[in-house]
Amino acid sequence: FLWGVGSSAYQTEGAWDKDGKGPSIWDAFTHKKGKVFMNETADSSCEGYYKVKDDIQLLKELKVNHYLLSISWPRIMPTGIKKEQVNEKGIKFYNDTINSLLENKIIPIVTLYHWDLPQVLQEKYGGWQNISMISYFNDYANLCFEKFGDRVKYWITFNNPWAVAEEGYETGEHAPGLKLSGIGAYKAAHHIIKTHAKVWHSYNKTWRSKQQGMVGISLTSAWGEPVELTSQKDIEAAERYVQFYLGWFANPIYSGDYPEVMKNYVGRKSAQQGLGTSRLPTFSVQEKSYIKGTSDFLGLSHFTTRYITQKNYSALKGPSYHTDRDLTELVDPKWPDPGSKWLYSVPWGFRRLLNFIKTQYGNPLIYVTENGVSEKLQCTQLCDEWRIEYLKGYINEMLKAINDGVNVKGYTVWSLLDKFEWNKGYSERFGLYHVDFKKGNKPRYPKASVYYYKMIISANGFSNPREVKSWHQKAIETCSITNQLLAADPLTTHMEMVTEIVVPTVFTLCILISAILLMFLLRKHN
Ligand code: BGC
Repeated sequence: FLWGVGSSAYQTEGAWDKDGKGPSIWDAFTHKKGKVFMNETADSSCEGYYKVKDDIQLLKELKVNHYLLSISWPRIMPTGIKKEQVNEKGIKFYNDTINSLLENKIIPIVTLYHWDLPQVLQEKYGGWQNISMISYFNDYANLCFEKFGDRVKYWITFNNPWAVAEEGYETGEHAPGLKLSGIGAYKAAHHIIKTHAKVWHSYNKTWRSKQQGMVGISLTSAWGEPVELTSQKDIEAAERYVQFYLGWFANPIYSGDYPEVMKNYVGRKSAQQGLGTSRLPTFSVQEKSYIKGTSDFLGLSHFTTRYITQKNYSALKGPSYHTDRDLTELVDPKWPDPGSKWLYSVPWGFRRLLNFIKTQYGNPLIYVTENGVSEKLQCTQLCDEWRIEYLKGYINEMLKAINDGVNVKGYTVWSLLDKFEWNKGYSERFGLYHVDFKKGNKPRYPKASVYYYKMIISANGFSNPREVKSWHQKAIETCSITNQLLAADPLTTHMEMVTEIVVPTVFTLCILISAILLMFLLRKHN
């Protein structure tokens, strides 16, 4: 069983325009005003580009089996187009990172696309709205297999394509910020699914026999629980919620087509809106068989749960992914929500989702690629008891699911560091390590959860409840020492102010005064 932690390129690397990297849609998006909380950007973020060795030390400290990271497409192909340019410095950066991980016996699990599309492809072709992305991405993926595949054995084509489609092309809350409600997301998803399949086939044909690795996709889904367990309508609405979320991508990959319920609902609403064809695109017979079976494992990203009830929306309100589903989402106010507004801690939903995957998709091999919780803005509390509770609950439910026969072989805490949280900027902190973004070198400090997760890894799960309790206690004791260090931070900030502001100002003033005095003396002399 693999225990690990994850991160992604855009969220942590910084160095957005260094060493030949081209701009991504996220660079362009964050550089526009009004798109991100406080207009924050990831231009420097955690400075991860310069801190690979330091971060590997943190991984060693945790004793993880694997590290999930992503490659920035525009860092190795500045325009996204292979025949235009390949950036050797970018290749070297990922080569060095992969080598350092392996030297430290940490398995790299590498995502090819964690949302940072080269900006040129967006400007020239409209990004994922355009079918030409399939071949550009396939060239990029093949270059990665060629350069890194001798050492990387776990590949993930796309991370959370649901968010790419829905937030990038439906609501426009994420880059590229397009609001093509009810149409754009379906089209983007359609192209992404085809691209994924193409890349899997490329690997299968060209690289698998030599490299012996695996290629999967990482899908995100919340669990949907019916509000009324006795209401058939709610039961169906909850199933629809999961089908529109996970099934949208998983069904084509495991069964060859979109879920029936999605085809029915989007088709019916499209007809009511006077459209000749469904807004949900269709796969040809050949495409269906080409796409079916193109995942060696399923990467699963899961954070939270919703209660679901049936709610009809009139088609006349206009096309929208959300109203296509005819449902509404509710939460229990008693569920803990320590950080992000959308993220309630509901561990039992995880077990249900895992069992759903087992029955729907033929018990596939699963690696949990993201699971974790955030805390709110400016929180310098290193004693993150709520994260320990969250991890304990979710890992426990995952272990129950394994007992149920679900084929989970790895678990990844999201995330190693506090980092740039997309349109939320730095206001939500998911890290096991706290990052002080105010300081130039972005120092990292362990939270209590580091100690706790480390114990889970070394015990390969939970040992007896008494020990688990004592890890919890020790974790809290350990963090309170580091917490005091952080609390003493104003002092260091003061010291920095003295060296970075006061000293240069006094120095400049001295030079100015000397110059004036000199002028004065010279005049007098004349
Ligand atoms: C994304 C991460 C993000 C997390 C929390 C996930 O779906 O893949 O990049 O940090 O959500 O917002």
